[in-house]
Amino acid sequence: MSETNTPFYITTAISYPNGRPHIGHAYEAIATDVMARFQRARGRDVRLTTGTDEHGLKMFQTARDQGRPTIELADEMSGYFREMYAKLNISFDHFMRTSDPAHHAASQALWRAMEANGDLYLDRYEGWYSVRDEAFYDESELIAGEGEAKLSPQGTAVEWTVEESWFFRLSAYQDKLLALYETNPDFIRPESRRNEVLRFVEGGLKDLSVSRTSFDWGVPVPGSPGHVMYVWVDALTTYMSALGYPDTDGEWGKYWPADIHMIGKDIVRFHTVYWPAFLMSANLPLPKQVFGHGFLLNRGEKMSKSLGNVVDPMTLADTFGVDPLRYYLLREVSFGQDGTYSAEAIVRAANADLANSFGNLAQRSLSMIFKNLGGELSVIPGNAEADADLLATVKIACASELPREFEKLNFSVGIDAWLRAVFACNQYVDEMAPWALRKTDPERMAAVLMTLFIAVRDLAIAIRPVVPAAADNLLDQMGIAVDARDFAALDDTDWLARVAGSGFTVGQPVPIFPRLELPEGEGE
Ligand code: MF3
Repeated sequence: MSETNTPFYITTAISYPNGRPHIGHAYEAIATDVMARFQRARGRDVRLTTGTDEHGLKMFQTARDQGRPTIELADEMSGYFREMYAKLNISFDHFMRTSDPAHHAASQALWRAMEANGDLYLDRYEGWYSVRDEAFYDESELIAGEGEAKLSPQGTAVEWTVEESWFFRLSAYQDKLLALYETNPDFIRPESRRNEVLRFVEGGLKDLSVSRTSFDWGVPVPGSPGHVMYVWVDALTTYMSALGYPDTDGEWGKYWPADIHMIGKDIVRFHTVYWPAFLMSANLPLPKQVFGHGFLLNRGEKMSKSLGNVVDPMTLADTFGVDPLRYYLLREVSFGQDGTYSAEAIVRAANADLANSFGNLAQRSLSMIFKNLGGELSVIPGNAEADADLLATVKIACASELPREFEKLNFSVGIDAWLRAVFACNQYVDEMAPWALRKTDPERMAAVLMTLFIAVRDLAIAIRPVVPAAADNLLDQMGIAVDARDFAALDDTDWLARVAGSGFTVGQPVPIFPRLELPEGEGE
């Protein structure tokens, strides 16, 4: 397991704010947030950056079509992203907007560093340009559309474009990039994406057009009037500008390079080819890992405005609750692959795992402690074998298995281990039948209930990065101090004596996960 005393820096891709946030943005933010919370709970000093990618022709055109200044569109739309992240409990430290003057200065600093290294030159560009992708494509990459039309490999419209442009000497970086992938096999994950990138780079790299003259909504190229930077050059720089680059004394000096750039699988090339090449050129440290997650499909179909099946994450959060939504997305989708979303599946997972299994375990346990022990906690001397076995099972799941898998971003596998421990607890309750012990053997009943108290605490701490509000609610009800909710607390053997000795008593518990109903009109 990696060290716990080093800083940890994680980012989401920054979103184009030319439309409202959709479930794909929510999914990425949630996964990134779970990782950030997990690392904080492991004792690491974490920074999470997100933001909006406001430059480029597409933003400019969208605003023009709406008859408004581009910055006004960007202000409004980036507000919706911020709102969504707040709603979903995304614990970001920085929300960087690329229209921020500090970001412009940072992008220009990076540009000058690449220029100083001799990697930028002025030439003419002719090629197939996709406004949607903000990318140029080779003739050979295009696919046939309707009639005579040619489309980008992503299926978006392309037009033949000729303009004066600055170029980045990407061709000079082929060997260095291949060496990077070779020496850092985890630089690109998952494996399938790594293979795609390897094949692409092995095929040879052309120099990259990195400025535009056809519009001015972007970061001005230093010393070259009329040119703004290609949107990806400045967008990627966000990961550093958010930390105050080029100032080395502040956060950038401390948290850079990033541990993980979390991105969608469609923008892997920008992050694993262009970005490390820019950084090598500027002589800067490279991110440690780029993770390209999959897409969420709506009942197996891609979501799109034209299909009318786009799901609004704000509505989902209102309908099902933030924690059930977060849990569902990480539990159901094998991280890195495409996943399917459906209302029935959220309701099923939330009810089966959260309400019926974990929620019910917590509710039953606390409620019996409240009713049968007057809410009094105590340390039970002696260990019945069944109690010790249960606690060992729970400890392995919470302190070893889940953290080991979360470290590798295998969220669903980690949650599976956790869920098996929840099942073991419920089986233990059924077998021990503490309610029946009340008359026959009150001491044994107390031992069973305190065993459950310990188990429930451990389970709540482990799943807290995924369902932070519900876990905190439960831990509040259990009298667990806010600073005793990290993974390190799982190794603290004296905590129960301290809580029990503090005069705290368990009150009438309040359920943490209500049972969900399928909304009217949803479902097959
Ligand atoms: N705006 C891009 C997209 O949505 C992502 C930019 S991520 C960053 O596809 F690398 F530029 F930061």
